[in-house]
Amino acid sequence: MASDTAIGIHDLSFATTEFVLPHTALADHNGTEIGKYHIGIGQQSMSVPAADEDIVTMGAAAAAPIIARHGAEGIRTVVFATESSIDQAKAAGVYVHSLLGLPSATRVVELKQACYGATAALQFAIGLVHRNPEHRVLVIASDVSKYELDSPGEATQGAAAVAMLVGADPALVRIEEPSGLFTADVMDFWRPNYRDAALVDGQESITAYLQAAQGTWKDYAEQGGRALDEFSAFCYHQPFTKMAYKAHRHLLNYCGHEVDEARVARDLGRTTAYNAVVGNSYTASVYLALAALLDQADDMTGQAIGFLSYGSGSVAEFFAGTVVPGYREHLRTEANREAIDRRKPVDYAGYRELHQRSFPADGGEYATPSQTGGPFRLAGLNGHKRLYERRR
Ligand code: COA
Repeated sequence: MASDTAIGIHDLSFATTEFVLPHTALADHNGTEIGKYHIGIGQQSMSVPAADEDIVTMGAAAAAPIIARHGAEGIRTVVFATESSIDQAKAAGVYVHSLLGLPSATRVVELKQACYGATAALQFAIGLVHRNPEHRVLVIASDVSKYELDSPGEATQGAAAVAMLVGADPALVRIEEPSGLFTADVMDFWRPNYRDAALVDGQESITAYLQAAQGTWKDYAEQGGRALDEFSAFCYHQPFTKMAYKAHRHLLNYCGHEVDEARVARDLGRTTAYNAVVGNSYTASVYLALAALLDQADDMTGQAIGFLSYGSGSVAEFFAGTVVPGYREHLRTEANREAIDRRKPVDYAGYRELHQRSFPADGGEYATPSQTGGPFRLAGLNGHKRLYERRR
């Protein structure tokens, strides 16, 4: 019976950008006391895309190692989740499909709901695998988080892509039923089609996130989910890593638990290493938290992980996963650390120039400077068409 099949994350790989801006450089520029960034929001640095990087090049770079390891057989669906889309019609995943040389007998689609999109993609993928356990789904979450220069949001930018192969008998994490769901129409963060940078009401977004955390947990409990004490770690969406702490304390309070800081540190401390140095990767961020958790030294075999995925606007979902025996043999710990360590520091002036870059909208031919050393690059724009290259 397909419904009895264990389904979940079989492989996970991530990519980030060519450049990194340390928060010390931002603090030097705007006169902020560095403790606000390092302690107050829990961020050390942010990934900054080169002129020839975008959600497609990052998404392809994240997914390529998965195809290299498993081949494309059985992958009949690619779901690309993003809230920093490059086209209002064409799915960014179609470019990735081409860059990776995937078979034409594939359906490719883009999903959007702020930072929640990748979780919708994961759940839809699980549904497809339930229908046919021979099938595998490539889920790609890729985002560039961009706020106005000199705005409060500037310190919570970042960029990364996570690719996940979803299938039956997964090697990493089995995803469980039920899910707790929550939707509320709030204007905490949004990006109208004519804008490059998102608009955010920061304090409202924190309040909305906390309400959503409570709402998803309430529904999760009503659906017959696990008790809070059964989880050994929690992967939260981390727009800045301190947000996970705020949300978890709120959840503990809501569930009538004393907020014991040792417990909070145990539940979250292993999930923040990548997001603290990558910055907000929007829809990828909750799965970067998972990568950090699995890559740390403790053996998580058989343990239950709680996932809280939040996307402003807002939609949220709480669900559980169980770590599969033998998972460590399938991790990409070294490659993940290399993706972070290979980034080149950029100074504030260089970051500002990259932030202000955009293609003219006149349909002309524009080549991008060759800056990234990554496997895929955005070579330019011609006749309103984005041109991508595969390096190796
Ligand atoms: N040392 C230690 N902590 C300090 C500090 C210092 N020198 N100075 C300030 N802080 C703390 C503040 O007390 C605050 O902590 P708290 O939230 O626990 O009270 C934290 O740093 C942030 O300070 P705040 O004044 O609230 O910062 P801000 O007005 O710049 O806003 C965000 C912070 C996160 C709201 C803002 O960066 C933003 O809008 N980001 C984008 C939206 C976002 O990420 N939303 C999250 C939900 S999706």
